[in-house]
Amino acid sequence: MAGKEHFERLQALIDLEREAEKAENLRELRKFPVSQREALGKTVTGLTMNAIEGGMGGMTMVVLSRKPKGEELSPFHAMNAGDNVLLSLPPGCEPRSAEGTLYKVEEYGVTVALNGPGPDAEPRGSCQIDLLGSDATYQRMRKALVTASESRRSRLSTLREIFLGETSPTRARAPKPVFFNDRLNEYQRDAVKSALAADDVALVHGPPGTGKTTVLVEIVRQSVSRGERVLATAPSNIAVDNILEKLLDTGLRVVRLGHPARTLESLRHGNLALQTEADPVYEQVREIDAARERLIHRVSRTGGRDRGIRAQMGYDEKHSREREVGRLWREARDLEFEIQRRIIASAHVVLATHAGMSKRHVKGDFDLVVLDEASQATEPLSWVPLTLAKKAVFAGDANQLPPTIYSKEAAEGGLAVTLFDRLKDLLPANAQTLLRVQYRMHESIMEFPSEQFYAGKLIAHESVAHHTADELPGVAATPLTSKPVTYVDTAGAGFDEAWNDLLESRENKGEAELAVKILYELLAAGLKPRDVAILTPYVAQAKLLKTLVREPGLEIGSVDGFQGREKEAVIVSLVRSNEGGQIGFLGDMRRLNVAITRARRCLIVIGDGVTIGRHPVYAQFVAHADALDAHRSSYEWHHG
Ligand SMILES: Nc1ncnc2c1ncn2[C@@H]1O[C@H](COP(=O)(O)OP(=O)(O)OP(=O)(O)O)[C@@H](O)[C@H]1O
Ligand SMILES: [Mg+2]
Repeated sequence: MAGKEHFERLQALIDLEREAEKAENLRELRKFPVSQREALGKTVTGLTMNAIEGGMGGMTMVVLSRKPKGEELSPFHAMNAGDNVLLSLPPGCEPRSAEGTLYKVEEYGVTVALNGPGPDAEPRGSCQIDLLGSDATYQRMRKALVTASESRRSRLSTLREIFLGETSPTRARAPKPVFFNDRLNEYQRDAVKSALAADDVALVHGPPGTGKTTVLVEIVRQSVSRGERVLATAPSNIAVDNILEKLLDTGLRVVRLGHPARTLESLRHGNLALQTEADPVYEQVREIDAARERLIHRVSRTGGRDRGIRAQMGYDEKHSREREVGRLWREARDLEFEIQRRIIASAHVVLATHAGMSKRHVKGDFDLVVLDEASQATEPLSWVPLTLAKKAVFAGDANQLPPTIYSKEAAEGGLAVTLFDRLKDLLPANAQTLLRVQYRMHESIMEFPSEQFYAGKLIAHESVAHHTADELPGVAATPLTSKPVTYVDTAGAGFDEAWNDLLESRENKGEAELAVKILYELLAAGLKPRDVAILTPYVAQAKLLKTLVREPGLEIGSVDGFQGREKEAVIVSLVRSNEGGQIGFLGDMRRLNVAITRARRCLIVIGDGVTIGRHPVYAQFVAHADALDAHRSSYEWHHG
């Protein structure tokens, strides 16, 4: 049976991918001595433990800090709340190491939520943390693939047959909806209607800023108003937060699963952990946890003051206390789980990342699942939420970047083809809609990507079509701020690219310095740092830029990491400059598309026209800048 083969192939691909990810982590640990891992931000040593606290859900939270040593970057610059880490403790401590999740990351301090018990007392001596990967996602994908493959005569088996092209999806005559959001444009309304009429599946194609998430939110509200329960998912935490933010405004009962550290601070009240804590019954959990703490402290304090007494404490007594500590822990957790189960069961909408869908919390009883950023999820990952619902609506854009894959073999074997990609070719036209009006970019910024990637179909909404940076309060009109697009050509400037062996990535110092000059020109004109981003395809260049400029609020990052986001002004540093005209992964047009569609009012692209100009699409971008009279030379910035 073809279906079985398909799922076995996907299984083999994720096995390859898992091995590649592990190998990559190990390779890094071996390749780089601690000092280099520290330079990369993957390890931080010399940490002092300032406090051990009981936290949510009985977790142990440890607060660690390190004195500044005058370095250019925060020692934690490569770490984010939500990352999995290994905490190593000094000799003499028990346990010697513990895994946990970064809960809070500051410039010179972090809080780690440990997965298991921590040390009894604050250790003397320094601690270390190392960034780790996680295996849970692979386990969930594996289970989902088996479930999907083996399902018989169910909604899931119907979806499977449709997704394999064995059956066609069906449509019902849906009643005309009364829209909750009365600002939806005609394309968005069509997308909502098409999704509501589908019995099985619908695809919403949305170029950047066209309101994919807005449309999904409307579909969710329509579905809930018909008495249905909805699951809303996306591959990344930030994308789930995007839907959460919009849903929290609707008055629906929503709950977001996942570690609270991985939810934006301003949205944490939507998180299951915080809703659990706010529940009246949670007071009992607190009391039980407090009783347990007291018991632990009684044992360890006695031991601390006089080891003799601890030694004298009989084996039986010690054991019975330990048993009591364990019993109290379980009692509190059971009660907590009961509260969580109740909150989830009464929610209209449950949100989670694909990978954060814990079977313990969600059973397959959703009428609808909406999958946002569907072009960013591998097929095996998409099956995790799909196994839990009767019907699916996907929103995505096949012209933006696909998911990151470690294994070249897996990528070439088909893992790089997303389910969204496949369905685009498989589903009939009436199950697919295209959003066309975008609410982000000045029409001159939009024009080039629209022609290149969307057959010229994009329309700039009148509220953004002519907006420029110099219309922002306090911003003066300068050659840069009054123009929506500027291309700064570094050809002939001698800004050669360099290979950064440590980061295995490329950088270009001359270009970075120019980007900083241009940035200060924008700031001098009155733009706020928080309204500007400097983006580059290469992580080494991003890191170099971070050492050159530190303005609170300014964002410097990789193009890939900025997908789904926007800023008033964006400076793009393309980096590549070499004799051979090599452009490497700049040659992926989806990366170019993402890079040049993040700016609302002011897009400044810096690149070597001779190098990039060998690629026909980049050559057309340069020609487009010429036509806009927006092609400048880096010589203009040489003195000053
Ligand atoms: N019909 C509309 N009228 C006014 N503003 C809208 C409309 N639809 C969307 N917007 C606004 O446009 C912006 C982009 O919308 P949204 O985030 O839903 O787009 P998206 O396609 O999901 O974007 P991305 O590609 O970044 O994920 C938001 O600020 C949203 O409020
Ligand atoms: Mg979106």
